[in-house]
Amino acid sequence: MAVLAEKRIVLGVTGGIAAYKAAELARLLVKAGATVDVVLTAAGAHFVTAATFQALTGRPVWTDLWNESGLAGRGMAHIDLPRGAAAVLVAPATADFMARVAHGVADDLLTTLCLARNCPLLVAPAMNVEMWEKAATQRNVAQLAADGVSVLGPASGEQACGETGAGRMFEAQQIFDALAAFLQPKRLAGRRVLLTAGPTFEALDPVRGLTNSSSGRMGFALAQACIEAGANVTLVAGPVSLATPVGVDRIDVTSALDMRDAVKSALAGRHIFIAVAAVADYRPVNVVEQKIKKGAGSLTLELVVNPDILAEVAALPQAPFCVGFAAESQNLAEFAEAKRHAKKLPLVVGNLVRDGLGGATNSVILFDDKGQHPLPLADKLTVARGIVDHIANMISPCTE
Ligand code: PMT
Repeated sequence: MAVLAEKRIVLGVTGGIAAYKAAELARLLVKAGATVDVVLTAAGAHFVTAATFQALTGRPVWTDLWNESGLAGRGMAHIDLPRGAAAVLVAPATADFMARVAHGVADDLLTTLCLARNCPLLVAPAMNVEMWEKAATQRNVAQLAADGVSVLGPASGEQACGETGAGRMFEAQQIFDALAAFLQPKRLAGRRVLLTAGPTFEALDPVRGLTNSSSGRMGFALAQACIEAGANVTLVAGPVSLATPVGVDRIDVTSALDMRDAVKSALAGRHIFIAVAAVADYRPVNVVEQKIKKGAGSLTLELVVNPDILAEVAALPQAPFCVGFAAESQNLAEFAEAKRHAKKLPLVVGNLVRDGLGGATNSVILFDDKGQHPLPLADKLTVARGIVDHIANMISPCTE
């Protein structure tokens, strides 16, 4: 995870049973190349020992506001620990800890460094459902959010106390992913991005239709990567069953004609249009009202070509920066370049069907006027971040 390499993270651990997940979180951060300074509260130490974190991070664990040395050896750990850190991340964050931070209380090392920090603060709440739902906790969480603190979760489900509901801490991997997303460079800040994703479904009759096996994952990953890069993002999605990335405006559509209408109505003021959708090239001439009955002979379908949404957008006089995709089963470079020239696109992302269609990973080649730029096989979010980085390099900085 390049964004965490050589970054220093202050990991606060307060007193909840979810503290055991903080050990895994520390391990993930260290594995990604981060330097991790753990601050363990007195209550946190009831659940996990300092020795655990010391072994995982290879660094001293901080427990005491009145520690003799501090990072710079001057007895000011509450100042020295957050200085130069990429973020303070508190997981688990108890109701009590959040209440104290929301009110500016600084009565132990962790709350004091939260007040003294000059870097972002992220908290992952963990508590019993009744505690989470109390008006006091909700007020404090709202205050933290209003103060610019990022609140990660909580999740819902079975709790250690035996009750069920909201208040479970996110899993270590989810918290790690959220921090990595938070730290992505804001290279599309101020940009408005429109994307298409997924397949389209072209109805034949009330129960049947023409479609393809696009899962929508590549387009959703790009929407996520654009949000992480600071853009305002609208995603026009064909029929897929994926969760909308937080912060993305989503418009659900079914057919190519629906997708075209949605794109047209959402296009005004967009700086970037990324067409990831596998739009059906053809649709039935007639959609039959009643279910087609099986006959003795063959069935002939008459199809008509769908409008090319990307080509139409790219041909507009004030066209946004248009990025096309090309999924090919062979001759990737030849066909992707042909699409780039035919639609007059500055950038086409080429992928082989066997690498990119349906699965969780992809391997792509970016085609632009400067040549070919391969991005190696990786999960789709990593690939999407690489594509966003390339787009940011190609467009001029936002001055609005
Ligand atoms: O959804 P996943 O399972 O994650 O898979 C991702 C993907 C393989 C579908 C994606 O990475 C991809 O390659 N999408 C483009 C598929 C394709 O080959 O499209 P195309 O060659 O039919 O179209 C070329 C470009 O024109 C695409 O950007 C497409 O969105 C756009 N197009 C095509 C036809 C049409 N009527 N309107 C369009 O906008």
